[in-house]
Amino acid sequence: MFRSNNMHEIRLKQNAGACDATLDPADWDAFRAQGHRMLDDILGYVEHIRARPVWQPIPGAVRASFRDALPLAPTDLSAVHAEFLEKILPYSSGNAHPGFMGWVHGGGNMAGMLAEMLAAGLNANLGGRDHAPIEVERQIVQWMRELFGFPAGASGLFVTGTSMANLVAVLVARDKALGFDVRRSGVAASAKRLTAYTSTAAHGSLRRALDFCGLGSDALRLVSVDAQHRINLAALRRMVESDRRAGYLPFLIAGTAGTVDTGAIDDLDGLAVIASEQHIWLHIDGAYGALGILSPKIAPRLAGIEAADSLAFDFHKWGQVPYDAGFVMVRDGELHRKAFASPAAYLERDTRGLAAGSPWPCDFGPDLSRGFRALKTWFTLKVYGLQALGEAIERTCELAQYLEKRVLAANELQLLAPVSLNIACFRFRCADADRVNARIVVDLQESGIAAPSTTRINGDLAIRAAITNHRTGASDIDALVDATLDIGRKITAAAEDRELEAAYHD
Ligand SMILES: Cc1ncc(COP(=O)(O)O)c(C=O)c1O
Repeated sequence: MFRSNNMHEIRLKQNAGACDATLDPADWDAFRAQGHRMLDDILGYVEHIRARPVWQPIPGAVRASFRDALPLAPTDLSAVHAEFLEKILPYSSGNAHPGFMGWVHGGGNMAGMLAEMLAAGLNANLGGRDHAPIEVERQIVQWMRELFGFPAGASGLFVTGTSMANLVAVLVARDKALGFDVRRSGVAASAKRLTAYTSTAAHGSLRRALDFCGLGSDALRLVSVDAQHRINLAALRRMVESDRRAGYLPFLIAGTAGTVDTGAIDDLDGLAVIASEQHIWLHIDGAYGALGILSPKIAPRLAGIEAADSLAFDFHKWGQVPYDAGFVMVRDGELHRKAFASPAAYLERDTRGLAAGSPWPCDFGPDLSRGFRALKTWFTLKVYGLQALGEAIERTCELAQYLEKRVLAANELQLLAPVSLNIACFRFRCADADRVNARIVVDLQESGIAAPSTTRINGDLAIRAAITNHRTGASDIDALVDATLDIGRKITAAAEDRELEAAYHD
């Protein structure tokens, strides 16, 4: 390493100077005080979140204010923060609130939030180069190898979410099947007709991944599910064999650990056997369910996940890490690298200096500039520990079972699918049930009491409660059920009144 007195003097002179035109605060003390107020405000928001509505519609005037012109002149930080408190904070989706049960949204956590602030302060770019933030990401890759029983050569990468993680995995599988030359020649140059397989209950991001990687979404065969909404293994085998006979090249089976509609976990061991017999890449979409491995009660149901060629999941769902923190792992890290690495003069590697430490994360995915998602994940895993995170996951499943019990105990409610993990799908029994239940969900959301979403189970519109937030408790489930009954009764009574009135006028 090169050192000299000259260097010391140069540094002293450099430090004595300052740039007048910087964007940094002119008055650091005032800025620090304002920063502390902002931190206090957001901590207070989460501390007292129960006192707020889960969600509320954005008033017209507030929405219109987001059409303001480009800000040419500066505005005081405190004024911009006041605007945030008035116009943004009250009208966010509310997934930090324990009453939020829609889609699959994690609740976030306070240590992760502070880590996100630290990451923004460092402003690290994790595309590459030799710096400690990348070691943090590598440590999480190593922890995930251990957690999921992947070998030492497995690679891992933070991405936005499981939609992107699925795409990365499908691309690696495609390139392995067609040969890595496909990156240059394109899929059209190949005579091979690839087909992939997943269940009818799989997430739409898999279909989109086939589309994005040039194979077309028709290449994704949808296999039927059993009564538990798990992929039908016999039907899968039949489809693969029939496609082979028809001249296709089956290259990918995508199992799901926690389906988006009902939380079903495919028989991953069974899928691993078929994939190995048929020499097909096995991908597991474990968007939220994979982290069930942290719970000793759920982990046995994920048996077979360790045999996957690739695994996609989100820390921002059951892992409670603030958005966004998706993750993809590939059993054979070299295949993963070959699918993405791309030499460029300006990304030349070295053995010393900042350009050391190859391979870099940019060699494993589409992004060159990458944020420090690993830090909020690292803080979350370290501060709470895996046991507490696993217990939080288990509690959400117990709450879904409690919801199932309450639904089964109420004559006016109907359970539409078995509760497998943390998701319960049910509805209010009535005439015109699809329309009424869709209305119940909107009314529930607007009431500010609970925010479930909807889905369709065997064609029927369902009220879908996915309990993902570590803050949710039994009182939130009671509030959801009681408010559903109340709203359902009011809607059906009003409809009956209207019918009576119409009959009277006839
Ligand atoms: C099973 C499954 N796969 C994929 C996704 C997509 O994940 P993301 O929203 O993080 O892209 C979801 C989202 O809920 C999901 O439940």
